[in-house]
Amino acid sequence: MDDNLLEKVVALCKRRGFVYPGSEIYGGLAGTWDYGPMGSLLKKNLKDIWWKDMVQMRDDVVGVDTAIMMNRRVWEGSGHTQFFTDPLIECKICHQRFREDKQELVAEHEKSHVGQKVEWTEPRTFNLLVKAYLGVIEGSQNEIYLRGEITAGVHVNFKNIIDSTRVKIPFGVAQIGKAFRNEITPGNFTFRSVEFEQMEVQYYVRPNDEEADKWFEYWKQNRMDWYVYLGINKDKLRFKDHEKLAHYAKRATDIEYEAPWGWDEVMGIHKRTDWDLSRHEEFSGQSMKYRDQENSDEYWPWDIETSAGVDRSILFFLLDAYTEEENRVLLKLHPKLAPYKAAVFPLLANKPELIEKARGIFEVLRSEFMTAWDDRGNIGKRYAAQDEIGTPYCITVDFQSLEDDTVTVRDRDTAQQVRIKTDQVAAHLAGFLQ
Ligand code: GAP
Repeated sequence: MDDNLLEKVVALCKRRGFVYPGSEIYGGLAGTWDYGPMGSLLKKNLKDIWWKDMVQMRDDVVGVDTAIMMNRRVWEGSGHTQFFTDPLIECKICHQRFREDKQELVAEHEKSHVGQKVEWTEPRTFNLLVKAYLGVIEGSQNEIYLRGEITAGVHVNFKNIIDSTRVKIPFGVAQIGKAFRNEITPGNFTFRSVEFEQMEVQYYVRPNDEEADKWFEYWKQNRMDWYVYLGINKDKLRFKDHEKLAHYAKRATDIEYEAPWGWDEVMGIHKRTDWDLSRHEEFSGQSMKYRDQENSDEYWPWDIETSAGVDRSILFFLLDAYTEEENRVLLKLHPKLAPYKAAVFPLLANKPELIEKARGIFEVLRSEFMTAWDDRGNIGKRYAAQDEIGTPYCITVDFQSLEDDTVTVRDRDTAQQVRIKTDQVAAHLAGFLQ
């Protein structure tokens, strides 16, 4: 692996408008990132593909979009105020704080104090929930938490969902949204941020191990296949069972990617059992049970959760797609993920006939998908600029186009060109983009 891969991707993201450091002109805010014009398209594409596969194309999953701010009792019910903690230690020399379980960062820090023996404070539990104040008076009654995972919004609406839809066990509830964590050591670009987005399905099944483990295996493979289908090198993905379980899980497996800093988590599959529904029933006093008409039974279903980070997935797609060739840099993103699906170029900017013809093609394509227009500089530079942002196809209108109504379509990965009739361009690309 290229030793500087992460630095190169970070630089490309800034240079080409994928990701910028948050609040940069004010000196930044650690662990926050802003998505630029390319990054926001990539992010939207990823979320749209996920939603289509998880909700639109499935009979057994419905979607919701719940509030970020919730009654603070929700977090007592879910166990987060008590258990959502990391072990924090502080360097007694410079007072920098670290997660005790992040051994590599701790060792690296010790090395930075050359010639000194670093001593650490005793570990203390540090709660990751981000506090906020709502209302006109600051005080503990007005203290709320920004959600530390998007999950609770689904569980607290369990009754609403079963009462307002026709879902039947087993069924899932999907959601995409922001989560916030007071991470002790944000880092590795967007990998560990304090504000990030998650895509989750809470999949409710009959409450027994056999049923739950069957669905656990199903979702593990389903999610792994999804990343491979979207183009990630499958040799760089693996399953990793959790040794230390989150407070809500009885079993958990991560899908990991081989990042420049080592294997690390892309997403997790968790067997949450009835932790959430039973606790919310206990803390709210409202029934959270499901009435199973088939078995004339009433119970808390068990939840098998798939939880993926949007930002982390994007980072791994970018790291995986980054390619250097002799005379170019390209992002070999799956066409479905690529910010622009195509770019249209008139060969020369000062020939009105070429502009007019190219513009006609551009207008047709942009009504179907994101299409870039570029009429500046030489054609080689225009190809290079599109390669770097991952545009899979470039269409050039040249003088031959004026004679026989054909254009060239250049493939990003092979740099090969084919010549096709103008009226076949949209259909030609649609074939690749499906
Ligand atoms: N609802 C379960 C849950 O939140 P998690 O393993 O804590 O489980 C799920 O988080 C996913 O959210 C992770 O696999 C990762 O992709 C993403 N994620 C978690 N913390 C993150 C952070 N600080 N920055 C970016 N992504 C994060």
